[in-house]
Amino acid sequence: MELLFVDSCISQRRDASRTRKLAEAFLESFRAAHPEAEVETVGPAQLLDLKPFDPDMLDGRDALARAGAFDAPVFDLARQFQAADAVLVAAPFWDLAFPAALRIYIEYISAVGLTYHYQEDGCHGDCRASRLVYLTSGGGFEQEDSLGVLHWRQLSAMFGIPRFDYVFAGGLDAEPERAGERLAAAQELARRLGEEG
Ligand SMILES: Cc1cc2nc3c(=O)[nH]c(=O)nc-3n(C[C@H](O)[C@H](O)[C@H](O)COP(=O)(O)O)c2cc1C
Repeated sequence: MELLFVDSCISQRRDASRTRKLAEAFLESFRAAHPEAEVETVGPAQLLDLKPFDPDMLDGRDALARAGAFDAPVFDLARQFQAADAVLVAAPFWDLAFPAALRIYIEYISAVGLTYHYQEDGCHGDCRASRLVYLTSGGGFEQEDSLGVLHWRQLSAMFGIPRFDYVFAGGLDAEPERAGERLAAAQELARRLGEEG
């Protein structure tokens, strides 16, 4: 069993990132429930090094895909994502969604012919993972249509990952006096998700 941890906790709080506290709560209980599991991490530095795709890069990637050369380095992140048994994504709530570096990561893992493909009836996912968990913390409160959550819910469906769960620790800046208790409650939810499946 291999868990892929996409650590997008890019934070001015550095190691005290509240989003990473959610991830740590999940990972602690996940490791306890799955002692045999390996956790592979894609961290903030790696995400921030990614270059967004420009037209020439897209042409190059398309040519490699047409040749079936999915072992090329441009597909490294997509191959890793495709092969994971479970995926954990943690990202702070930025500008109504999440940091740009995570959006660029999505460009890399969205590789037609590897993580998903098209048929006449639409898009079909080809990822192995049985679940994806999205953890986020926000200064304001969760909305019914919070974009980061919606984005990862729809990506999970596109990649063929059947189970999607999320935790949104909201109101951490709006009501600082209650931030501690709200974060603790969200950590408990993350811990419970880590124990499952
Ligand atoms: C660049 C940036 C953008 C943010 N955008 C939002 C936002 O759109 N809505 C919101 O409620 N909070 C926003 N916040 C506040 C963060 O979501 C909040 O402080 C979060 O807990 C930060 O997580 P961290 O402790 O892991 O850094 C933003 C913070 C930063 C630094």
